[in-house]
Amino acid sequence: MKKIVIEALGSPEKQARCVDAADPAAPGAGEVSVRILAAPINPADLLQIEGRYGVRPPLPYTPGHEGAGRIEAVGPDVQGLAVGDLVLPGVFGTWCERIVCKAAGVTRLPPDTDPLQAAMLRANPGSAWAMLDAIPALAAGDWVIQNAGNSAVAGFVHRLAARRGVRTIAVVRRAEALAAAKASGATLAVVDDHERGRDDALQAAVAEAVGAFETAAGEPPAPGGQPRIRGALDAIGGRATARLARCLHDGGVVINYGLLSGEDCSIRPHELVFRGVRLEGFWLSSWFRGAGAQRIRTMYDELAELMRSGTISAPIAATYRFERIAEALAHSAQGGRDGKILLVGED
Ligand SMILES: NC(=O)c1ccc[n+]([C@@H]2O[C@H](COP(=O)([O-])OP(=O)(O)OC[C@H]3O[C@@H](n4cnc5c(N)ncnc54)[C@H](OP(=O)(O)O)[C@@H]3O)[C@@H](O)[C@H]2O)c1
Repeated sequence: MKKIVIEALGSPEKQARCVDAADPAAPGAGEVSVRILAAPINPADLLQIEGRYGVRPPLPYTPGHEGAGRIEAVGPDVQGLAVGDLVLPGVFGTWCERIVCKAAGVTRLPPDTDPLQAAMLRANPGSAWAMLDAIPALAAGDWVIQNAGNSAVAGFVHRLAARRGVRTIAVVRRAEALAAAKASGATLAVVDDHERGRDDALQAAVAEAVGAFETAAGEPPAPGGQPRIRGALDAIGGRATARLARCLHDGGVVINYGLLSGEDCSIRPHELVFRGVRLEGFWLSSWFRGAGAQRIRTMYDELAELMRSGTISAPIAATYRFERIAEALAHSAQGGRDGKILLVGED
C-alpha cells in the first residue's frame, strides 16, 4: 500500500515522501481494518511536519489527523461494525491507504454521507461546535466575529451559529474572498485592509456594517452604540488578535485557535483592563480530554447528521492520490485557495 512518511522535520514539500509499504496485519481482537478513502491536508498537519505543533510524533511517522474510510475486515470481539461501513477511524496517521485501529475509537457514519466531506468531519466542525459553545452567554441575536473568515472552520462556524440564531461576521484578508465567506453562510463579510489603514479601521467597518444590518432589519440601535459581538475567533495571531478584540462588546472573549501569522497574539491593555475582554486559547485535543465521552458522542452525532444532509460542508479545491503528495502539498501551501486539498484512495 502507499503511505506518506516523514523522516525529518522541516518544509512539508521537502520532507513528505510517498512510499510502498506492506499492508497492515489482519485486525486482532477488538480491531478493524479501514481502507482510507480521503484525508485532508490541514494546517495542523503542516505545522506538525514543520515541528511547530503541540505534539511531535517520534520520527519516522505518517501524518494525518483525520480522514474517512471503509471497513475492509473486522477482528474478533467487535460489535456494531461491519465490512463496507463508512467510518472515521479516530486515530492519527491517516495519510495512508490502509490502517488498523481499535473498534472502540471508530465512528460509523450514515452510509449516504459524502466520503470526501466525511473525511473533514472530525477537526474543523468539531472545533467550530466547541468554540461556539465556549463563548459565555451567547444568545440568539448576538454576533460572533472571526478572521480567516473564508476558511473551512469559519464556514462551519457560520452554519452552526445560524442554527442558534447567532449572527456572524467573517473577516477576510482579500476582497476576492468576500463572496466565498458569504456563500459559506456568514451574515456579514468585511475585508481587514489594515495595511492601507489604521489599526482601528476594522472596528469602524464592522460597527458600520452591523449598524446598517440591524437598521435594515428594523432593530433598535444597540445600547451605547456597541454591537453585541460576544465572541471573536482568531486563527491568525499577531496584530490580527488586537484588531478582532477592538470589535468586541465589553466583557467579550477572544478565542485564539490558530497561528497562521506565526506571530504572538497581541492585544491592547485597553481591552483587557477597561473593557473586561478576555483572551483564551482553544485546542480541540485539549477539549476532547475535558469533554467526556458522552458529550463528544452527542456532538459528532449531531455534526454527522448535519453533514449527511448537506447542512454543513467545506468546499474542496482539489483531490490528489497519495503518490502525488508533493503536488498536493504545493497546492495546499498556496494562499487564496478556494477550498481544502484532500488525499484520496480508491473506493
Ligand atoms: N485549535 C484547534 O483545535 C484547531 C482545529 C482546527 C483548525 N484549527 C486552525 O484553524 C485555522 C483554519 O483551518 P482550516 O482548515 O479551516 O483552514 P483552510 O480552510 O485551509 O483555510 C486557510 C485560511 O487561512 C487563511 N490564511 C492562510 N495563511 C494566512 C496568513 N498568513 N495570515 C492570515 N490568513 C491566512 C486563508 O486565507 P486566504 O484564502 O486569503 O489564503 C484561509 O482563510 C488554522 O489555523 C488551523 O490550524 C485549529
